[in-house]
Amino acid sequence: MTVSAEERLRAESLRARILYHNHRYYVLDDPEVPDAEYDRLVRELKGLESAHPDLVTSDSPTQRVGAAPRPEFREVRHAIPMISLDNAMSDEELADFHRRVLSGLSGGDAPLYVAEPKLDGLAISLRYERGVLVLAATRGDGTRGEDVTHTARTIPSIPLSLIGEDRPEILEVRGEVYMTRAGFARLNEEILERGERPFANPRNAAAGSLRQLDPRVTARRPLTFCCYGWGELSVPADARQSEMLRRLAGWGIPISRELRLVSGLDGCRDYFEDLSRRRDRLDFDIDGVVFKLDSLADQTRLGATNHHPRWAIARKFPAQEEMTRVESVEFQVGRTGAVTPVARLRPVQVGGVTVSNATLHNMDEVARKDVRIGDTVIVRRAGDVIPEVVRVVVERRPADVREVELPSQCPVCGSDVIRPEGEAVARCTGGLFCQAQRKESLKHFASRRAMDIEGLGDKLIEQLVDLDWIREPADLYHLTQDRLVHLERMGEKSAANLLAALEHSKETSFARFIHALGIREVGVSTAQALAGRFDGIESLMQARVEDFVQIRGVKGVGPETAKALHAYLAEYPDLEASDDLAEWLAGLGVRGLTRGRAEALAERFGDLAGLRAAEPEDLYLNSRRLVDGVGPVVAAHIAGFFAQDHNREAIEHLLEAGIHWPSTSEPPSEPIAQPLAGKTIVITGTLSRPRDEIKARLQELGAKVTGSVSKQTDYLLAGEEAGSKLDKARSLGVEVLDEAGLAALID
Ligand code: IVH
Repeated sequence: MTVSAEERLRAESLRARILYHNHRYYVLDDPEVPDAEYDRLVRELKGLESAHPDLVTSDSPTQRVGAAPRPEFREVRHAIPMISLDNAMSDEELADFHRRVLSGLSGGDAPLYVAEPKLDGLAISLRYERGVLVLAATRGDGTRGEDVTHTARTIPSIPLSLIGEDRPEILEVRGEVYMTRAGFARLNEEILERGERPFANPRNAAAGSLRQLDPRVTARRPLTFCCYGWGELSVPADARQSEMLRRLAGWGIPISRELRLVSGLDGCRDYFEDLSRRRDRLDFDIDGVVFKLDSLADQTRLGATNHHPRWAIARKFPAQEEMTRVESVEFQVGRTGAVTPVARLRPVQVGGVTVSNATLHNMDEVARKDVRIGDTVIVRRAGDVIPEVVRVVVERRPADVREVELPSQCPVCGSDVIRPEGEAVARCTGGLFCQAQRKESLKHFASRRAMDIEGLGDKLIEQLVDLDWIREPADLYHLTQDRLVHLERMGEKSAANLLAALEHSKETSFARFIHALGIREVGVSTAQALAGRFDGIESLMQARVEDFVQIRGVKGVGPETAKALHAYLAEYPDLEASDDLAEWLAGLGVRGLTRGRAEALAERFGDLAGLRAAEPEDLYLNSRRLVDGVGPVVAAHIAGFFAQDHNREAIEHLLEAGIHWPSTSEPPSEPIAQPLAGKTIVITGTLSRPRDEIKARLQELGAKVTGSVSKQTDYLLAGEEAGSKLDKARSLGVEVLDEAGLAALID
């Protein structure tokens, strides 16, 4: 199809408008149109270009991932070397720098400095010829870097062509490619979901993402670019660093939003102090602040050494990573019973504070990082985040290191600690009765779908536990008016109301009572199923795993063999077996029926009559659920819970306190509604409560919660920073809910 002049003009105009909006978005941080409008322009351009391929230009915004994967990186020589910066590690060193500047300039007023964050990513040089990006190269050793044009093109904030007036013939832009913290967190979350190894920090993630042979990989990584300088330039530069940067911004190149002009040493100090304070709140990692003389004439006068300019300095923050020794590993119990290994460290100063503990997250992490007691490790503290062990310095491992062992008993309450197969997190089985979990389990106990104790809110429970008035749930039923009125914000009236609510809650249903116990993975519907299956708490407490899940069949025999044998025997009802049943079976020539399997079957069934009476399900190994929602894992949770003496005692105390329910032969008085029954929901992003908790709640309401979005998904519950799942849901037309939307749906 030939291209009409009109279409050509339209494509050009679309391209110009997209460029303009990119500039508003990435440089000015002031988008003029909503994302949807921008997307519409891009879609229209894509449509035109795919109908008329000769309309495509290399700098078209549709061509970011145009390049084919490369077999290797090409070397690039920097015409103007990319030198690095001198560091000032302390205020004195900064003052020394300033003094050197003053003496080099032989007096005059306090010089102006351009101040910017020192971004923690990797340096890159972008070459524009006649306004179009033609080359992107890493810094490498300063003289020679690598050609990364194909991957740099995928970074949305790097313009593929310049905008505005007076674009130079040749412009080399220098700056940092980095990853925002939010982008980094999202990327690592996705990597973990795929079961792969996460990046240690945003800088490594940025470097690893840019240095890819395949640009499609880079395109999926949340990289950003910020310019802090320039190299070759075919027009005269402005007189001042700040003016020149502003001119670059005018051409569509993003510069730092934190860029300020400061005066003299005091100005530098103030800027450094201010950014140090705000560092944790920035959305990107910085490792210091950079000061550059603003006057380019003064820059030239001072010159550079082989390594760094004399007119600039990086005032670094204290390091966030240090090395120390693991003296021991202790285990902490969290509010949900998670038993977390914590390294006790030889105290070390990290980023200005003393660190003597660092989390090891869970036993999988301990194994992955291979941390042992006595090891020398790198610890990292970033902002308000809990210090963590980054890695072991294996070269320094002494001979007498000890392995970290998960305790079999909870260090707080002594209950068994279990770690279900395939799960990273070990948990205390103490539930209601473990002090570490007391508040959470009491909140659950009192909640609407459990014992439904009106007026016993979270704050009150926390007060009661902190005062040590409530150690186990039964203690709630021994509260008195005299005691209650001493509590904060508790008048005579509300105390009386609470006591009445407690009294009222004593009459409950078996299902509610089971649910209230807070057994892991026993939600409302499983509790109802259990209440329907067992005639009382005594028999439930005595149940073994086999009472929930029936294991049938013979080990080693699979369904195919079982069905083949079953069919064979049905086909020949008159066959008689010889004395040696195993040998006879093995000789039948039934597919898959080996001698070993024949022996196992003969041992289980004794004679041919027994075997003939069996169903195929009695022949091959399989499990049958006797209670809805209770598979082998949940069965183990239930049996494990009741195996704990204190759990049994606490139940006894509750019954003594007067908790009762009608016998289960009657139908449950009020079935608990399951508004989400049959719905499949996927959760993504950061939500107001831990994901496990939200998942459990959704399951209680009847939903099936799965890990990935597909056409079968009914809703995507999306929190903040939702990433690829949100995109997928949108592309499949799956309804996306935020937390408020979910609440409305449930109502
Ligand atoms: S200026 C001639 N400004 O730090 C001066 N560098 O230690 C060249 N960096 O390789 C560098 N933020 O990767 C400059 N605002 C900033 C920077 C910055 C980060 C990096 C850059 C450079 C390294 C030097």
